[in-house]
Amino acid sequence: MNTSRRGFLRLLGGGTTASIAVNWPMRAVSRAIAFEPSRQDDGFIRLNNNENAFGPSPKVQEVIKATSSSVNRYPLSQYGWLKEKIAGLNHVKPEQVLLGCGSTEVLRMAAFAFLGKGKQLIQASPTFEAIEHYARSAGSEVISVRVTPSFAHDLDGMLGHASGTTTLVYICNPNNPTGSLTPRKDIENFIRNLPSSTFVIIDEAYHHYAGQSGTYASFLDRPLNDDRVIVTRTFSKVYGLAGLRLGYAVASPKVISPMQQFATAANVNAIVSQAAAAALDDVAATNDFIQRNTNDRQEFFNQAMARAVKPIDSHANFVMMNTFHPAEEVIEHFRKNNILIGRQFPPLDTYIRVSLGRPEDMRSFWRAWDALPYPKHTMQH
Ligand SMILES: Cc1ncc(COP(=O)(O)O)c(C=O)c1O
Repeated sequence: MNTSRRGFLRLLGGGTTASIAVNWPMRAVSRAIAFEPSRQDDGFIRLNNNENAFGPSPKVQEVIKATSSSVNRYPLSQYGWLKEKIAGLNHVKPEQVLLGCGSTEVLRMAAFAFLGKGKQLIQASPTFEAIEHYARSAGSEVISVRVTPSFAHDLDGMLGHASGTTTLVYICNPNNPTGSLTPRKDIENFIRNLPSSTFVIIDEAYHHYAGQSGTYASFLDRPLNDDRVIVTRTFSKVYGLAGLRLGYAVASPKVISPMQQFATAANVNAIVSQAAAAALDDVAATNDFIQRNTNDRQEFFNQAMARAVKPIDSHANFVMMNTFHPAEEVIEHFRKNNILIGRQFPPLDTYIRVSLGRPEDMRSFWRAWDALPYPKHTMQH
């Protein structure tokens, strides 16, 4: 055996020469695959998509591994029991739950069910853009109303645009990209004053990070008893399952049924249904992720304040702040330092959005921040 072959066998790890000789071709293949860098392992620190940098929990990871052997089967039978589980947790009937390939698919279903030519969507600006994209694909007009100076939805401004053709309003609370809250009682008043034919999506993707406060209460935990309200949630954030794709809506059966017609067949894959159920059961891990996020968010604010920077108060797993410099240049500076942060969010053209990552990633972020090649204005929004 020559030296390089011996070195390669050492890399394969263990075994006698005889057994290695017998198993060599198979092992070589499997190790070679194991050494392939994953496609996300491209050297960039990812602070750009508001993912859970620590998830999923070990218990959920076990379930994912155990389920992988059954992916030769279509997942159609997974729907019923998962809907029942989610319905039970939210104290609603299974026919009030609609599952999607991420909550993005749920937003698409809502857009195609309730929008179209001659119909109008009203949303905040800036906010999460998926619904706008689908509204335009459906041929609708989109009215975007700039958030207030405290970064809440400008509900009076939105109401001012509402008319008989406004069939859908999108409220993201906490809002992405600002991380800010719109007070619950203001949303309630707003809904009460909308035309009776206007449906309202309350996107609670970041619900778990909002905590309990006088101003925030989930429309799932404290429902309004109004058939026009559609609440959406995702498994992509606190549960750490963004790559597996699962989200859901809770609404009246009368609202779920027209949305369901736009669902892709078998839109819940065979792994995510099991993983999501395990994530819902792993309450301790969810609480740990929430606590960790609270601590990491506090640490981010400490680091920002130490640099006399004042981010927008965040109720999510990301933070937005004013750099007083064109955001595209700041984003590019971080990219050159191998750090991906959020994209541009007009009209907040000098703001950046930073997802909270692992401690070492955040240290890299602040190192790159300190190396920004221009003066930093400070302590204002
Ligand atoms: C507010 C909001 N809603 C929905 C989504 C979509 O989540 P997913 O399709 O992964 O469930 C995101 C993703 O970042 C988001 O920020």
